[in-house]
Amino acid sequence: MKQEETMLRIVKYAVKAPSCYNTQPWRFKIRNDTICLLPDFTRALPVVDRDDHALYISLGCVLENLVLAANEFNYETKIEITGNEKKPQIMVTLYDEPEAVKSELFDYILKRQARRNKYSNDEIPDNLLSELFNDPHDEGVRTRLFLSRNEIKWLVPYILESTRRQFSNKAFVDELVSWVRFSEKEAMLKGDGILAASMGLPNTGRFIGNIIIKHFISADREAGRMEQLTEASSGLALFMAEENDPYHWIRLGQAFQRFGLKAAKYEISHSHLDMPCDVLRVRAKLIHDLELKDLTPLLLIRFGHSRPMPYSFRRSFYKLLDP
Ligand SMILES: Cc1cc2nc3c(=O)[nH]c(=O)nc-3n(C[C@H](O)[C@H](O)[C@H](O)COP(=O)(O)O)c2cc1C
Repeated sequence: MKQEETMLRIVKYAVKAPSCYNTQPWRFKIRNDTICLLPDFTRALPVVDRDDHALYISLGCVLENLVLAANEFNYETKIEITGNEKKPQIMVTLYDEPEAVKSELFDYILKRQARRNKYSNDEIPDNLLSELFNDPHDEGVRTRLFLSRNEIKWLVPYILESTRRQFSNKAFVDELVSWVRFSEKEAMLKGDGILAASMGLPNTGRFIGNIIIKHFISADREAGRMEQLTEASSGLALFMAEENDPYHWIRLGQAFQRFGLKAAKYEISHSHLDMPCDVLRVRAKLIHDLELKDLTPLLLIRFGHSRPMPYSFRRSFYKLLDP
C-alpha cells in the first residue's frame, strides 16, 4: 500500500494541468497503488466541445503531470486505458522505484500557464523550435508549424471566420460567460473558470460583466482582437491527432502538456486559437486546404515572448476524490 499522503501530493501536481475554460473536468479514485483518472461529464462543454475532444485532451494533460510527479516521488508508472472506446478510463499503477528516472519537466508544472496577452513576434531559433515540437514520445500526434509572416497570415481568414461563427451563436456565448469569473474573489471562491481580466475584460463583478459580454462584445470586435493576437505571434502550432478518438485525444493532451512545460522552461508564452479546429465547418476547410487527409486538427496554439500573467485557480482537490 502506497503512502496516501504521497498519492495526494501527486494528484495535487496533476491538477495544475490546463483544461478548456479551466473547467477541470476530472475526478480521481485512489485504490491501493492505483490512481484512476475519470472524466467528469458534469463539467463538459456541450456547445464548444460537442464530442468531448477538449475534455479528453485536458485529461491527457493531467495524465502527463501525474506521471512526471509520480517519477519525482520515486515511482515508476504503468498506464492502462480501459473502459469502452467512447468513455475510456485511465488507470495509473505506481511501483516503488528509488531509482525512478525523473524528468526536469516536473520543475515547470507550477510555472506553466496559458498567457492570453499580446506577444512580441521575434523569431524563435530553430534549435529551440525543434526541442519544443520534436518529441519522440508524441506517438499518434503530429504538429505543423506556421512561422513566416506569410504562413501566419494565411491562417487569419480561418481564425476570423470561426471566431465570428462562435460569437454569433448565443449558446456559445452563454456557455463561455458561465465560465468567465468577473472578479478575483469569484475565481477564488469557485476555484475554476477564466478570469475576465485575462480575456482583456474589466473586473466588474458578474452582473455588469454579463451585460458587457452579451451586449457590447460583438463577433467582429472579437475577431479583430484575435487577428491582432495572431499577427503578434512568433509562430503558430497546429496539434493534430492521427485518429479522431478519445485514445488519441488523450495522447494529444500528453504531447501538448509536454510542449507547455518545455515552453515554460524557456519562458516562451503560449495560448489557444483553437476556433478553426472547434468550428467543424472551418475544421473541414482547414483539412482540405492543408491536405491533412486523415489527420484531425484539434489545437491551434500561438507562441512568442510576453510578460507572465496572474495564475489561474484550481478547485479544492479534496472535492475531486471519489470516496
Ligand atoms: C483542450 C484545451 C482547450 C483550450 N481552449 C482554449 C480556448 O479556446 N481559448 C482560451 O483562451 N484558452 C483555452 N485553453 C486554455 C485554458 O483556458 C487554460 O488552460 C485554463 O484557463 C487554465 O489556465 P492555465 O493553463 O494558465 O493553468 C484550453 C486549454 C485546453 C487544455
